[in-house]
Parts: sequence; C-alpha cells; structure tokens
Amino acid sequence: MCLTLQVEETLKPFMLSMKKLREISSRFTKEMDNGLDKKKHQKAAVKMLPTFVRAKPDGSERGDFLALDLGGTNFRVLHIRVEDKKILKVDSQICAIPQEIMQGTGHELFDHLAKCLGEFLESQKLKEQKLPLGFTFSFPCEQTEIDKSILIRWTKGFSCSGVEGKDVVQLLKDAIHKRGDYDISSVVMVNDTVATMMSCNQQEHEDPDCEIGMIIGTGTNACYMEDMKNVKRCEETEGQMCINTEWGGFGDKSPLSDPGALDDILTDFDKEVDETSINPGVHIFEKMISGMYLGEIVRLVLVELTNNNLLFEGKVTVRLDTKHTFETKHMSFIEGVDQEVIDTIQDLLKVRCSEDDARVVSLVCDTISSRSAHLCAAALAAIANRIRLNKAKDNLKTAVGVDGTVYKKHPNFRHKLEDAVAFLAPECDLKFYISEDGSGKGAAMVTAVAWCNWTEAGLITK
Ligand code: BGC
Repeated sequence: MCLTLQVEETLKPFMLSMKKLREISSRFTKEMDNGLDKKKHQKAAVKMLPTFVRAKPDGSERGDFLALDLGGTNFRVLHIRVEDKKILKVDSQICAIPQEIMQGTGHELFDHLAKCLGEFLESQKLKEQKLPLGFTFSFPCEQTEIDKSILIRWTKGFSCSGVEGKDVVQLLKDAIHKRGDYDISSVVMVNDTVATMMSCNQQEHEDPDCEIGMIIGTGTNACYMEDMKNVKRCEETEGQMCINTEWGGFGDKSPLSDPGALDDILTDFDKEVDETSINPGVHIFEKMISGMYLGEIVRLVLVELTNNNLLFEGKVTVRLDTKHTFETKHMSFIEGVDQEVIDTIQDLLKVRCSEDDARVVSLVCDTISSRSAHLCAAALAAIANRIRLNKAKDNLKTAVGVDGTVYKKHPNFRHKLEDAVAFLAPECDLKFYISEDGSGKGAAMVTAVAWCNWTEAGLITK
C-alpha cells in the first residue's frame, strides 16, 4: 500500500459521513428527551439542567455588578455597569489558578477566589460597597434556584476535593465571610453557555433573539431556550426556561445508555485519551471535541503513524512520546505546508520533519478538527430542530451566541461547523455571533435581571 493510503487507513475512523452524523444527531435528540424527563433525568447522560434563567433583559435593568468567571486555568473578576441596554465593563482582573489549586481541596480553591476578589475590590475602591454578584461557574451544576447550585462533577482538569455535591454559592460566601474584610450582596449562578447567550441578546444586531449559547473552548457545551411544558422534571408548564444541556456528557455510559451512545464511533485514540484523563468515562463527547483534548488525540495518532514507519523516519522521540506536548492551539497553525510549519513541528516534537511529514501532520490535524466541528454540528442541529418543532414552524430563523478558543481561533473550524449544520438542519437558518467577554457580561446581565425582579418583588430593599 502506498504511504498516503496507509495514513488514510489510520485516519478513516475519524471521518464521519453525513449519514452517520444524522444518526448521531437523532441519538442526541433522544438523550435530550431523557434528560428532560421526570423519571429518567437522574440517569441521563445528557443532563439537560434547568438554569432558572427565564426572563431576557427588557432594557430597564441598571446598576453596578460584580462578575466572577471560573471555568479554565484562569479566574476573572469583573466590575460591570448595566445601563441603557448596554453592558459596560468598568474594569477586570485575571488571576491564575495554579495546577495545585485546581487539584487541591475545595477550601483552598474558594479561599483563592475570595482572595482574588478581595484584591480586585481593593484596587477598585469597592470594598465598602455590597454589590450583587454574578458567578459564571462553567461546570455541571444542579440548580434548584438561581442562587443555589450543587456541583454534579468537576470537568476540564479540575478535581478539588469536597466540592462535588455541595452548593457552590455557599462555599463562595463562606470563604468571603471567613475573611471578613468585605461582603457581597446576592449571588446569581450561571453556566458560561447561558452567560454567552444572554450577552448576545444585548449585542446590537438586527436579529430577533439569541436562543442558543454554545462554547467550544477548553470544554464544550450548549444551552437553549426550552418551553416549560417540555421540562417534565419541573412542575411549571408556562413560558420558557434556558436549559444547560451539558452536551459534553453525550456518549457517557449510563443505565439508560449502555453501551454508550457514541461507542460505535470511538477510536482507540479516543479511548486512550479518556482512560488516561483524570475523569475516565466522563464527558466522552467533550473529549472528542474540545481544546483540552484535541491536541492529545493528534499526538497519539502521530505516535501510531511513526511506529508504523509512516512518519519522521519511524523515530518516536521522547517529546513526541510525552503526554500533552502537542497542544490544540498548534493545530490552528499547522494548516498547509511551508517552512514555518516544518520548523514548528520540529521544534515542538524534536523530530526531523520532511515536507512529506509536514503534509501528513497537517492532514491529521485537519481530520481531527473536522470531526470535532462535525460532531458539534450534529448536536447543534438537534437543538435547532427542537426549537423549530417547539414553535411548530416549517422554518426557523434564530441566533447562536458562541465563545471558546477552538471556535474563535481555528481558521476553518467555524466554516466546517456552520456548513455541516446547514446540511443537517436545512430548515433552520442559524446566525452565529461571537460573544466578546460573554462570560462576564452575561453573568452581570443575568444578575441584573434577577436583581431587578427581586427588588420589584420586594425581596430586596436597596
Ligand atoms: C462543563 C460545562 C461548560 C463547558 C464549557 C464543560 O466541561 O461541563 O459546564 O459549559 O465545559 O466551558
């Protein structure tokens, strides 16, 4: 067999036909139904979590708010002003979350967050004020109210002990009260997808409503506006609520999905990435799509090709053989072949890279990022169709607020995703809006809406 054919043979399991993607889209629809069901939701792989975000901003909201944004290796604190239908960022600060805190105890994590917030308030001369706070906490949480949020499980490399099963709002408040040098008013919890969707509703574009929020970054997930009558696990039947799908869990084995819904398309490389992760068996869909894992899948394929003498003269270097040496961000750069690409590969993996080698590496990167975009498209098409059917419309026009480095930084990702959605959901015309600073601004917006409602209802006196 010629070299190209042998390489293609290795890559074949990553290439999903449109027929297969359609099938995956229907499986996702079924999983969404399970997640919304009164009896099945607890066992569902796709959690479909109620967010208690029901009202969209009506333009009357105003005031100063704090926003916290925790979801990756950084933690952001923002001071946001909402006025005249605009969300203005007054100032913000980034604090790193060192690895030992990400994998330490819950107390250490929340003490660190409270310390960063304290330093920010000090720098802003806000310590004497008691501002409402929106907390974008980008992990799966079971919310019973907008200000009570129980962490179901950590994802994306976090594993702080003593937090799963606990109310994150309480842990934050406890850490702040323990310090005693400042205080905050009410806390409103939001997922980053929800914040992104809400912040897009405020952007000045002519589209009616943004009904979907999607993140494709370190992790991946989407939320959308669902009719209450379909949220069988809640008693209420009127109006709408934003549902955090937690689509990253699609493909996880559960009593309702065994074998897992994606077992037939999982490659040996995916299985290895999962098995060597800190949360095996959890968030299988996310591990095929998001920035935390794509680079590692590429590296494992490169090792296999080299072992089979199809790359780098068959020499597996220590760098190439070391976990996480090839990062997802490099995939954006390795598109096509030129001297810069060759130099980058040589530098990263400490290999001797010929032009042919670079061509193969580029093909691997393209194949893995295409599969990621196509899988997202399959799930997104299912969500869009669901919204269309809820509205009993033949054709749906709606908008998706998007954030995340994979979507924003990769040169072809968004085109591949958008083309595939158009193919898989031809009755849905989706406009994609990149959300700038969505996590922070959206959290402040949700807080502003809740704050105004609570104040109107006399639950808070200013
Ligand atoms: C989390 C989601 C989050 C997504 C994107 C996933 O790992 O479970 O809650 O929205 O990452 O940040």
